[in-house]
Amino acid sequence: MFKFSFDVDGAGGTPSAAEPQQQEPEQEQMSQNSQQGYECEKLELPENLRQGVVIERDNLHVFVASVDTLVEYINCLSLPVDYFSDDIQLAELDHSDLVPGMYEGGLKVWECTFDLGERMAEKAEYKKLFDKSTVLDLGCGSGILGIVAIKLGASKVAFQDYNKDVLERVTMKNYSLNCCAADDLQSSDQSDSAAVEFYSGDWGSFVDKVERQFDVILTSETIYNTKNYPKLLKLFREKLRPDGVVLLTSKTCYFGVGGGIRLFEKAMDEDGYFRYRTAWECDSGVLREILEIRVKSSSGGQQQQQQQLPGNVAARLLHRVWMLVKHTRYA
Ligand SMILES: C[S@@+](CC[C@H](N)C(=O)[O-])C[C@H]1O[C@@H](n2cnc3c(N)ncnc32)[C@H](O)[C@@H]1O
Repeated sequence: MFKFSFDVDGAGGTPSAAEPQQQEPEQEQMSQNSQQGYECEKLELPENLRQGVVIERDNLHVFVASVDTLVEYINCLSLPVDYFSDDIQLAELDHSDLVPGMYEGGLKVWECTFDLGERMAEKAEYKKLFDKSTVLDLGCGSGILGIVAIKLGASKVAFQDYNKDVLERVTMKNYSLNCCAADDLQSSDQSDSAAVEFYSGDWGSFVDKVERQFDVILTSETIYNTKNYPKLLKLFREKLRPDGVVLLTSKTCYFGVGGGIRLFEKAMDEDGYFRYRTAWECDSGVLREILEIRVKSSSGGQQQQQQQLPGNVAARLLHRVWMLVKHTRYA
């Protein structure tokens, strides 16, 4: 079974933009891999999964996104390690959550997925976003966010993950489990009958291969590697409809890895194409946030961001002061 030693969860502490770490030669090679990466490939959902898959109860987990939105899923803990390809077995031998450029962590469900999944299913304005929309679950891993989008009425969902193995052995099964059971297919509102596509490979190659744009791009825990920011920004720029939204969720800071929300915001500021706001941040444990990212409108977009950012920063400062007061009072 897998053990994950990419310890971002245990980091805690104050959020700060960590400096990129000095890299060993082997790590540097891996970072270079992560710049080129695997070619994008479109994968077909096998016929047997279209009919709905049956998974032993003991191997299933349940995510309760809201009272009426449940997602059952399997992850790496449900599967023996020799079930996976060399890349993923290597990660296991290395006790790593991910091996940049080879295996990018999609077998584990990362906690920000649950943060965003809950808000998608509970907040009225998010629920509305998904009705008949086209959605990209970028760096989908288990595919939980894309599945929630289908349950909320999305008409088309593309699941993208770096590793083909993750898509074929986990994501597709989770999709089948939640959206292809006989009662889902016959449901009168047809809410779970979205058209779906699955793409493996690197974001750089995805941009060139997939022509369509999406109303919503969902992405969870994908900004830990600053080297990927130019690719991500290019992808957002080319694949998001002009009136669309990216819902990005992430740890505020990935200690010891380098990336995080503030660094990604800085990259967006330098790029100049997007405006963004913090839609949610957690107030305990490992700091995590949700950002809403939109294209600046050609007239007034810049102004909108300038108006929005000070408010955003002020709200965050106030929040930090409140947390400090609260903790000092009870210390
Ligand atoms: C830490 S995992 C998060 C998985 C999932 N979103 C979650 O929250 O549970 C990061 C994901 O980003 C994707 N990813 C990272 N770097 C990538 C790259 N260069 N090209 C394509 N996908 C990448 C991988 O597919 C991987 O599943």
